[in-house]
Amino acid sequence: MNTTVAEKLRTMEYGAAPEDPAASVAWLDKFGRRFGHFIGGSWVAPARGQYFDTSDPSSGEKIADIAQGSPADVDAAVKAARAALGKWQALTPNARAKFLYALARQVQKHSRRLSVLETLDNGKPIRESRDIDIPLVARHFYYHAGWAQLLEQEFPGHHACGVVGQIIPWNFPLLMLAWKIAPALAAGNTVVLKPAEFTPVTALAFAEICEEVGLPPGVVNIVTGDGTTGEALVVHPDIDKIAFTGSTEVGRAIRRATADTHKRLSLELGGKSPFVVFEDADLDSAVEGLVDGIWLNQGQVCCAGSRLLMQESIAATLTKKLQARMSNLRVGAPLDKATDIGAIVARVQLERITGLVSQGVAQGATCWQPDTPLPSRGFYYKPTLLTQVHPTSVVAQQEIFGPVLAAMTFRTPAEAVELANNTPYGLAASVWSESVNVSLQVAARIKAGVVWINSTNLFDAATGFGGYRESGFGREGGREGMREYLEPAWVRKAPLLARPVEPDPSGTEPAAADGGAIDRTVKLYIGGKQVRPDSGYSFECRDTRGKLLGEAPLGNRKDIRNAVEAANQAQQWGAATAHSRAQVLYYLAENLSQRSVEITGRLAAVVGKRQAAREVSQGVQRLFSYAAWTDKYEGAVHSPPFRNISVAMNEPLGTVGVICPESAPLLGFLSLVLPLIAMGNCVVAVPSVSYPLITGELYQVFETSDVPGGVINMVTGRPAELMKVLAEHDSVEGLWCYGDESLCATAKRSSAGNLKQVWTNEGRQIDFFNERVGAGRWYLDHACQVKNIWVPYGE
Ligand code: NAI
Repeated sequence: MNTTVAEKLRTMEYGAAPEDPAASVAWLDKFGRRFGHFIGGSWVAPARGQYFDTSDPSSGEKIADIAQGSPADVDAAVKAARAALGKWQALTPNARAKFLYALARQVQKHSRRLSVLETLDNGKPIRESRDIDIPLVARHFYYHAGWAQLLEQEFPGHHACGVVGQIIPWNFPLLMLAWKIAPALAAGNTVVLKPAEFTPVTALAFAEICEEVGLPPGVVNIVTGDGTTGEALVVHPDIDKIAFTGSTEVGRAIRRATADTHKRLSLELGGKSPFVVFEDADLDSAVEGLVDGIWLNQGQVCCAGSRLLMQESIAATLTKKLQARMSNLRVGAPLDKATDIGAIVARVQLERITGLVSQGVAQGATCWQPDTPLPSRGFYYKPTLLTQVHPTSVVAQQEIFGPVLAAMTFRTPAEAVELANNTPYGLAASVWSESVNVSLQVAARIKAGVVWINSTNLFDAATGFGGYRESGFGREGGREGMREYLEPAWVRKAPLLARPVEPDPSGTEPAAADGGAIDRTVKLYIGGKQVRPDSGYSFECRDTRGKLLGEAPLGNRKDIRNAVEAANQAQQWGAATAHSRAQVLYYLAENLSQRSVEITGRLAAVVGKRQAAREVSQGVQRLFSYAAWTDKYEGAVHSPPFRNISVAMNEPLGTVGVICPESAPLLGFLSLVLPLIAMGNCVVAVPSVSYPLITGELYQVFETSDVPGGVINMVTGRPAELMKVLAEHDSVEGLWCYGDESLCATAKRSSAGNLKQVWTNEGRQIDFFNERVGAGRWYLDHACQVKNIWVPYGE
């Protein structure tokens, strides 16, 4: 229809502004629209000859044939990556840095074509792929070129994990590839990456970029396929680490599938992130924030602000403003530069969104959608606002992964925090308030890896990203992201432990000590009190010649539950100042030192005089060392390339279970428990079975050192049984398990339900007497999780 300029000025309607896809189409045609895998630097046809279609979700039209990866293809890729590893690691840091820099430059050079390909394959608006995805991809490679250069200075004594398997989702295809590949290469790993089946095209374009920059063959391998290809990669025996981004359900399956191996694992999973608006917020800005928070990428964003929490006093006004803004969102052709909301990635995803919204409505939610026309072809869903949502409704709890906002109200900041944390996830949050006090206070209390103040969905390579709780573990970006691909050089050289002997329960009556009365009987230590075990059983502790030294309680499930409850009630410890926590650790050192002669004498009966003396003296030193670290292991302030700072805070995990090593009953206990409490965690520890009587020495020291009740709890008993209870317990946030290989595997497998962070010795022997190995940053890194709070500045 022809309109006059005057009419256009009156309506202010956008005309169509389509991006020309010719260059991308030509690129696809160059490959005959049929892609093999990229293995060992060559394009390889799939071993089974199978291909699947990838199509444009805005039209349903096929884009290309994509190779379906079989276990044989995965094996070939892993072999290529293994073969390339030695030479890649032998390069100087500068040589690797130059490759990463070249990748960044090449991404920039091809940025328009990559943006169009991304939009064709995924359905996201070209405005987003052009202005967000691809620039961030280039930034990620630039940033990590820097880490490659600085590797030896900044991570001395570390080396790469080896061959890394990486599996990525379809929502930010090339960006997720960059988040995975850049740090892995910078650290000196080689990779096999599997893109998502809905969106493999830009990963293949990236493979060509690897060729163009002359990356050594095998350093990056791309194998395409569906979930079965991903599974083959996960279970491949020659992979050293798996990095996964995707659904929580698949994350759980991967946790289980890797439990019996020494593969390291990082998981970036789903979210149901709160978007909290206080009554003093700038409501117009908050509305724009919501546009970016839930309608970016059609809401198919793991950290989407999908739960709107509004302070009751402004709920009506905000809802009105929001509805007005939603009516102006343009849904349509993704290649149109004026489109706000593009196509949903696939029919199955559209059905999933539709199904979840219907369920929400059936559960009482009111659904509001603007009167926006939708294209007649392709997979589209209107921007949707659900109000009257009950916090337990499926639309408040489950990740919808679509343009659907579920709104709820709150009255006080405390209620807002409670609602925000009422989710098993913990990926991100947005907090809107003009009060810096309120917003920072609330940001600190929300359990999430990223919190944006008066902003949303901001990302930068220098600022780590990743979740708490069922949103997974590990970080991508920043220094902490590099740690995921590195480990201390000594780790894999440490010998494996023999399997320990399990203690036997004796009768309810304490047995008589050889040659006379019982020497000693200790108790459990829970909530700052000495308590008897629920079972009424105890087990014997004997010296090296078999002489009975005393008895320790045989703790059970109920004792662990009580200890966890006590630990959960003591969480104020994490909020205490680092200075106060350091004072307690110094005081502990003083009191352990005062009792050193007595404790050395007792411990000597089991470990010999020499070791006992070393355990006590090094134990005192370790206390000093962690007291020192308490107020020095600090976070960071990043300056991303826009008007924000991001504050990286080292936060405690919460309650952490600790299965202590058998061989060094005192020093092993202290080496694991101290970094945890230094960082503000509360601990439920299962002391060594070889000398459980150490509990008695320790609680006396704790009681005289002002350790608040519940911060350290000790439950003696069978490590395997107690560990399982800790692993399965939903309010234990972390588990450190030191034991043989089978105990460590069980710890990982049993924790898959709630995806808690499990850190084990992988069945290896760790020399706690060696200061370099048994103490320091490696332990502190695992004792906390980084939360990044983004704070804007300027007007
Ligand atoms: P998904 O988790 O099945 O797929 C993600 C990646 O994992 C893909 O590359 C897929 O091929 C691969 N995969 C699937 N099963 C696997 C297995 N057993 N072992 C190894 N790799 C496997 O996610 P899907 O089915 O595409 O989406 C379903 C829901 O998951 C979405 O509606 C959304 O709620 C959530 N999701 C979350 C993402 C996030 O970034 N957190 C990304 C994608 C999906």
